[in-house]
Amino acid sequence: MQQKINQYTSEINDFQPKNAEEVEIFRIKFLGTKGIIKDLFEEFKTVSPEDKRLFGKVLNEFKQLAETKYQTLKEQVDSSGLSNENLNPDFTLPGEGFELGSRHPLSLVRKEIIEIFKKLGFNVAEGPEIEDDWHNFSALNFPEEHPARDMQDTFFIRSEKGDGEAYALRTHTSSVQVRMMEAGQPPFRAIMPGRVYRNEAISARAHCFFHQVEGLYIDENVSFSDLKQTLFYFVQELFGEGTKVRFRPSYFPFTEPSAEMDISCTICKGEGCQFCKYSGWVEILGCGMVDPNVLENCKIDSKKFTGYAFGMGIERITNLKYQIKDLRLFSENDVRFLKQFQSELI
Ligand code: PHE
Repeated sequence: MQQKINQYTSEINDFQPKNAEEVEIFRIKFLGTKGIIKDLFEEFKTVSPEDKRLFGKVLNEFKQLAETKYQTLKEQVDSSGLSNENLNPDFTLPGEGFELGSRHPLSLVRKEIIEIFKKLGFNVAEGPEIEDDWHNFSALNFPEEHPARDMQDTFFIRSEKGDGEAYALRTHTSSVQVRMMEAGQPPFRAIMPGRVYRNEAISARAHCFFHQVEGLYIDENVSFSDLKQTLFYFVQELFGEGTKVRFRPSYFPFTEPSAEMDISCTICKGEGCQFCKYSGWVEILGCGMVDPNVLENCKIDSKKFTGYAFGMGIERITNLKYQIKDLRLFSENDVRFLKQFQSELI
């Protein structure tokens, strides 16, 4: 019996399984209900009483050894997560790639927009999401009683500062334009990407927050045709050559004249479809020449300088590029949605 145990002991010590299957075979062989240990305990019953003490100890130690070995191997197999893979890996094999995430579609489109304007010499400017009344409204020529200041559109914030100042979540990144104009003198040529907030009921078509890229260009002799040319270039770059643009007169308190710009529907190529409500056109941004009042509010000489501004919603552009019909998808973090957007990672 001692001899058998010695032989099995070295067998156990030398045992190097190649995969999970072999570990299981090991368990059955030594620890199974019809296994070697079971047999040895049967045999132990026949050992003479005087030898029992010695063999009992030897046998128990042997049992321990087999169990510990099995536990260790089992853990190795489980933690490798590759239960049937080789436990003695070939380190010369190529490694397993990491599963990396991809960019959010809004980030992809924001990046694309920024890249286009960078080529035209625009810088990127950012500002706070919590704004005071001056930067979000007053400096931008919003009359005191303008409906956009209403509770319906704006999330107001109670200030703990006790300074009597009204704070709100910015409703557009035009507030960053004000900050930029106040901080220096023209020329300015910058875009302002950022998150903005509006007090709207959440639905497939509206959300209480969204993302904008606004732009500002101020210098001597800047004209509406400069604005048109810039936006025309932008649209060709983003949506492809041949995309048509048209400008419709509009109104914003901070620009005069103001316009909204449509592009030919990228889905039906202007033929007419559900997306463009069979008009062949979709609106993508608001724009205009900066109102002289705004320049003066920011201590810029409106006799010397003129400028243009524009602002677009990133969600809208993303919808057009990827045909996403429900705005809520952007903020639900559903990986099934997000996984569809493959991107380079840096
Ligand atoms: N700030 C406007 C908005 O949020 C967009 C805009 C920017 C319009 C600049 C004209 C000029 O809707």
